[in-house]
Amino acid sequence: GGVHTSERHDSAHKHVSGAAIYIDDIAEPAGTLHAGLGFSTVAHGVIKSMDLSEVRRAPGVVTVLTAQDVPGVNDISPSGMNDDPILADGKVEFHGQPIFCVIAETRHQARRAARLARVEYEELPGVIDIWDLDAESHKQVFTPLTLKRGDAPEAIAKAPRRVKGRMRLGGQDHFYLEGQISLAVPGEDDEVTVYCSTQGPSETQHMIAQALGVASHAVTVEIRRMGGGFGGKETQANQTAVLAAIAAKKLGRPVKLRLDRDEDMMATGKRHDFAIDYDIGFDDEGRILGVDYTFALRAGFSADLSGPVGDRALFHCDNTYFFPHVVAKSALLKTNTVSNTAFRGFGGPQGMVGAERVIEEVAFAVGKDPLEIRKLNFYDPMGSEGERNVTPYHQKVEDCIIQQIVAELEEKADYAGRRREIAAFNANSRYIKRGLALTPVKFGISFTKTESNQAGALVHVYADGSVHMNHGGTEMGQGLHLKVAQVVAEEFQIDLDRVRITATTTGKVPNTSPTAASSGADLNGMAAQNAARQIKKRLIDFAADKFGVPHEQVVFLPNRVRVGNQEIPFNEIVRLAYMSRVQLSAAGFYKTPKIHWDRSAGKGHAFYYFAYGAACSEVSVDTLTGEYVLERTDILHDVGRSLNPAIDLGQIEGGFIQGAGWLTTEELVWDDKGRLRTHGPSTYKIPLASDRPKIFNVALTDWSQAYEPTIHRSKAVGEPPLPLGISVLHALSDAVASVCDHKVCPRLDAPATPERVLMTIERLKAEA
Ligand code: MTE
Ligand code: HPA
Repeated sequence: GGVHTSERHDSAHKHVSGAAIYIDDIAEPAGTLHAGLGFSTVAHGVIKSMDLSEVRRAPGVVTVLTAQDVPGVNDISPSGMNDDPILADGKVEFHGQPIFCVIAETRHQARRAARLARVEYEELPGVIDIWDLDAESHKQVFTPLTLKRGDAPEAIAKAPRRVKGRMRLGGQDHFYLEGQISLAVPGEDDEVTVYCSTQGPSETQHMIAQALGVASHAVTVEIRRMGGGFGGKETQANQTAVLAAIAAKKLGRPVKLRLDRDEDMMATGKRHDFAIDYDIGFDDEGRILGVDYTFALRAGFSADLSGPVGDRALFHCDNTYFFPHVVAKSALLKTNTVSNTAFRGFGGPQGMVGAERVIEEVAFAVGKDPLEIRKLNFYDPMGSEGERNVTPYHQKVEDCIIQQIVAELEEKADYAGRRREIAAFNANSRYIKRGLALTPVKFGISFTKTESNQAGALVHVYADGSVHMNHGGTEMGQGLHLKVAQVVAEEFQIDLDRVRITATTTGKVPNTSPTAASSGADLNGMAAQNAARQIKKRLIDFAADKFGVPHEQVVFLPNRVRVGNQEIPFNEIVRLAYMSRVQLSAAGFYKTPKIHWDRSAGKGHAFYYFAYGAACSEVSVDTLTGEYVLERTDILHDVGRSLNPAIDLGQIEGGFIQGAGWLTTEELVWDDKGRLRTHGPSTYKIPLASDRPKIFNVALTDWSQAYEPTIHRSKAVGEPPLPLGISVLHALSDAVASVCDHKVCPRLDAPATPERVLMTIERLKAEA
């Protein structure tokens, strides 16, 4: 039941049988009312008039909230920019922006009534797409970042070879199974409790308090589990929470607000799409000498997290490669679209897609297998004396193990053998072409916002020897609560079922960071271990004293404690300690050491460590239609000494598939009026079970342990596997390139939908 074992997810049976309680499953308190939203129908405009009289008269309607009903501050901006109104006030900045909120006896009544509003707009010109914008002069939502080391323009100008290009990279909807939802229950005086599907309960609490104009101590936010978050509930959960809380306090009745799928897709932010410009200098061997990048992203109408997302894209524009000279700039372009937000990887995957395009360009230019170019440009391996180990942000890469991972994966996946087979197959196959690619991943672990790298936990041992565990992290399916419970069970050497997993609540652990940046287990595991160790120390002191033995002779064994020569059941030691008035509860705390980051200088030790992995994918493409099949994927991923290998394998499989979906079939389309045309599963295609690779081999490295003293030497696993999906994009590109004998880089953009694959094939054939 302790660490390094493949315990089953604590809620696995409940997930599949429907017994797991999500927000909408909580028994509704008597008198619960339901909310529905009214949305802007233009992308940019001034609200000339808003006639809500018919809405108010509709059956079941109790009240209608507008911006004027916000008692405190009408803002939920997480960036301090004050640019995220809860309800639009006077102007609207995207199609689908919430402008009013109807409260009715039933959800159906609230939603029907919302359609009866008569709103007149003075429409203003809107900016929807970023492709044709000038990154230098267009309005940005937040201060952009530049990373710089050496003199890239000079290195590129002097390099024997040079390639310039531009890439378009699509966004992604989170498509969590459970949409955004909150239930607010008013309490006495100014108090309110909000059950919210949020990754960041403390931030949600803060936003509710600010909107109500009360202190944080009046607001409690609780979340047992989310039906998926994927970054989409890091900040975007706050809107339903704040609206439900305002309505509940105004009416003195519980209020629930749940968006349906189409509303959720229309009105809440997504992964940022990018336009990536690159200019590369390299030698005839394919060794990169200098890179100059611009990463322009579609921020949407407000800052939200676009600043730090752009930062993380730059932090990963090197991926596993050393660039002797580099300059990389972000451009956080303001558009009249929904404000984009965190999504698993947080810009990192977009940065890596840029790095892998650079590799591909160089490989085609010098006529070599891209894998050779990758290996030629890797950072120096861990423990070597070399100097090819400094990132564009001036942090030294000390723990690089990508060489070993790639070497093992190449061998296991028989890369060389299959490369030959595929060439032979393609030579004999007129329409179906196969493609193969092996791509690496290096992902930086830590929030770059230093203060976010802290965590708290609360552990109670009850007098019967059962343990109540609570911490600041949230469960979204990733198995965080199980991992932290394993850590606590390990400390006390008790069976896992003695440790109760409880809902995350701001009332037990305050001032927590959102569960994001893959840091959940790293931070909260350490905080819970710290709490358990405090109690354990008190038990040891107590037993040593009571039985008159030295401290070293009090040893925790499975479900019992050896004290000198006798063994006492854990429950009994606890009971005795209680009788002797020993405190059996503790608050734990952890903060990540070593890290610092100076954004204005673009320098620092931004990450505590790096997570590594690699994937090798093979596809077959029908060159007449552009349709394709993912034939096989092999993955080797590093999680150090895994806290739970079964959970980690699940994270790697899911992350890879989510990454592959992003780069292949998931396409967001806005029309020129700024209306999202892909707001449901009929038009937006996420991967199905049947889209997984026909052959899928996923393994953890069996030799790795974390370079730093992390929790039981494990490494974060939440986000790093997502960019393994880049191997599918490059396998498609490889197959496509076979129609022109690999003479030119296909420049296959993402998402590589069948249509885009076909267009690329047609272009290459026409050029050839
Ligand atoms: N896994 C599941 N099943 N559901 C999710 O919503 N979110 C991902 C990842 N894995 C997610 C998931 C994201 S975006 C992050 S940051 C991490 O889980 C957060 O959890 P951790 O820090 O505990 O790994
Ligand atoms: N991922 C990575 N880094 C982050 C995140 C995230 O979700 N949030 C803030 N920094």
